Amino acid sequence: MDLAQAEFKQAMQRLAGGVCIITTAAADGRRNGLTVTAVCSLSAEPPMLLVSLNKASNTYNAVVANRNIAVNILSEQDHSLAETFSRKIPPEEKFLTGDWTKGVTGAPILRSSVAAFDCELDWVIEVATHGLLLSKIRKSISADRPWQSLLYSGGNYCAVSGPARQKYDTDARLRASV
Ligand SMILES: Cc1cc2nc3c(=O)[nH]c(=O)nc-3n(C[C@H](O)[C@H](O)[C@H](O)COP(=O)(O)O)c2cc1C
Repeated sequence: MDLAQAEFKQAMQRLAGGVCIITTAAADGRRNGLTVTAVCSLSAEPPMLLVSLNKASNTYNAVVANRNIAVNILSEQDHSLAETFSRKIPPEEKFLTGDWTKGVTGAPILRSSVAAFDCELDWVIEVATHGLLLSKIRKSISADRPWQSLLYSGGNYCAVSGPARQKYDTDARLRASV
């Protein structure tokens, strides 16, 4: 690693990131997944997300082949899953822990996540070592309970609390706006 890279890594470590598990499934049911922080909102109309994955990861190749991707936002209680999914181990071993279900796209959804996005992969832009995955959201799922989102900063996991209760009620919002 040259000096510029080392300085970049040292500075980037200070950017606290929400920890997510990216998952995908093939038509024959084979699953892949990895831990990430490089997720950002891309567009609300239509709802879209951007995820940056290292092209050397197994999950990158699987997502590009499967064209489905779920973004599972982790709660503090699932920090051991973040560790598991950041390891280079056979993909099915990663799914031995956690309560997983299948989204409408087929991608694995973690029931204990604080929120999850079930997406179709639209575009891939390859930049240097990474691929930027631009995905259209088919379904957004928010847990109806208080949450503590898992964060990663300076090489450590920590957590931030959400409000005690928040239910997204579209009908009530529409009624309030007329
Ligand atoms: C907190 C944390 C955040 C990470 N963020 C990313 C990321 O945004 N993109 C990425 O490609 N890898 C990221 N990684 C590394 C992958 O999780 C790791 O390389 C993993 O072993 C890849 O697994 P796979 O090859 O089975 O897909 C992160 C790891 C940790 C611990």
